[in-house]
Amino acid sequence: MAHISVTVDGTVYDDDVEPRLLLVHYLRDRLGLTGTPIGCDTGNCGACTVDLDGESVKSCSVLAVQADGCAVTTVQGLTGDGEWHPLQKAFHEQHALQCGYCTPGMIMAARDLLRENPDPTPEEVRHALEGNLCRCTGYQNIVRAVLAAAAEMRRRTIHEPGAVRQPAGAAGTAAGTAGGRGPRR
Ligand code: FES
Ligand code: FES
Repeated sequence: MAHISVTVDGTVYDDDVEPRLLLVHYLRDRLGLTGTPIGCDTGNCGACTVDLDGESVKSCSVLAVQADGCAVTTVQGLTGDGEWHPLQKAFHEQHALQCGYCTPGMIMAARDLLRENPDPTPEEVRHALEGNLCRCTGYQNIVRAVLAAAAEMRRRTIHEPGAVRQPAGAAGTAAGTAGGRGPRR
């Protein structure tokens, strides 16, 4: 077993975990944060995307021990004081989900895009979400939702916390991205 200390959605957890435990399983099975779904478990669909120290990652491609000392934000950590994040609100208002299975990952990947590019073009949104698959919507409304959220965040001058980039190799990966900019791990 390995000891980890990780902050998840603002709460610090100290736990002993098996070194082979994936971050997504730690979040869901140990912490009960089932808002982060598992779509493929192979790093291809992006459904499990979370923020790890300011960088979007596919949590099925990261070991829990690699999150030791880090801050993880899941889609469940975006709702502050009972108010939805502009991306959550826009996905609802623009009908950007049907079954909703891809939605947490889409929102977390879009959040990462808007942190670096607050005023993206539709093409930039599509490129940023290439690593996130949706089997229901045809993507049009997802792009609309991200653009609507971006406009709302600019209007309200909302800035996401900046990325704290890890030194190369500090939080390596077990699998690559599915393509595009997408989640980086
Ligand atoms: S569950 Fe599909 S990329 Fe992680
Ligand atoms: S809404 Fe069903 S997979 Fe995207």
